[in-house]
Amino acid sequence: MSFYRKVVLVTGSSSGIGAVIAIHFSQLGANVVVTGRNICRIRRVAQQCRYVATRCAEVIEVVADLTKDCECRRLIRRTIEEFGQLDVLINNANVSGMSKVDDPKSAYIFDHIMHVNVRSTFLLSQLSIPHLELTNGCIVNISSRAASNPVTDYSLYCMSKASLDMMTKCLALDLKHKGIRVNAVNPSFLRPKVSRSVCCEEDKSEDDKLLHYPLKRLGEPQEIARTVEFLASGRATHITGVTTAIDGDSLLSPFAIQSNKQ
Ligand SMILES: NC(=O)c1ccc[n+]([C@@H]2O[C@H](COP(=O)([O-])OP(=O)(O)OC[C@H]3O[C@@H](n4cnc5c(N)ncnc54)[C@H](OP(=O)(O)O)[C@@H]3O)[C@@H](O)[C@H]2O)c1
Repeated sequence: MSFYRKVVLVTGSSSGIGAVIAIHFSQLGANVVVTGRNICRIRRVAQQCRYVATRCAEVIEVVADLTKDCECRRLIRRTIEEFGQLDVLINNANVSGMSKVDDPKSAYIFDHIMHVNVRSTFLLSQLSIPHLELTNGCIVNISSRAASNPVTDYSLYCMSKASLDMMTKCLALDLKHKGIRVNAVNPSFLRPKVSRSVCCEEDKSEDDKLLHYPLKRLGEPQEIARTVEFLASGRATHITGVTTAIDGDSLLSPFAIQSNKQ
């Protein structure tokens, strides 16, 4: 599918799945905004985007800490100043991290996880509405299978993703009159080394658990990117408010939803 002349903003695109999604959309001809907090990582991903970009697609780099409202505003403003429009907002930035319920610090961790994973997603979506309305654009939220399947010692992350799924449905309903579609994808664990934050993927014993996945392997970030591409494309114009599992049918696995930190 071509995204020629479309503008795609991917939060958390300085690494992991977000980086793969940004590179994927550059390949499809979209003008892409690469963003995060770490300028070196942003620059590296932006270079990869430029390397694969087709049809003179452009890339801009924006450093923004999404826990700061003014930086969320600046991110949207820079996108519009540079490209003049916004077609697709992909809310991918996240923090995960373990948190035992009885840890006295967990209330502070709660605030931080909710701020990055939920509040900033809501604010960026809200700030994007007038621009997406003009382009008949859409929002794709990167959620997780953990939204509906609890993972031991990752309760705050799971709660944030459950909230994101409900936000997806509520915004889809509220924005339908403006012609803006809102959907989510819900990956299960991806293959090791994709993520900087999902530490339980590093465990070698994960290999044993794979035998219990119906598809006998973890997901690849490109599989997430291709599903996002579909949901953001003109082929999905009658799809809104859905949460899309990309999980190799891991629901059928007795081990897939368990943290190996048990
Ligand atoms: N990896 C998996 O197995 C998996 C499974 C299911 C769902 N997911 C979902 O997929 C998405 C991407 O996950 P990932 O594993 O690729 O994550 P990751 O490698 O940890 O990357 C997280 C991204 O979020 C950005 N970020 C974090 N805090 C930020 C802040 N305060 N302001 C701005 N940017 C911030 C980081 O950028 P900087 O460091 O530059 O700030 C980074 O680019 C997440 O929504 C996650 O929940 C992942």
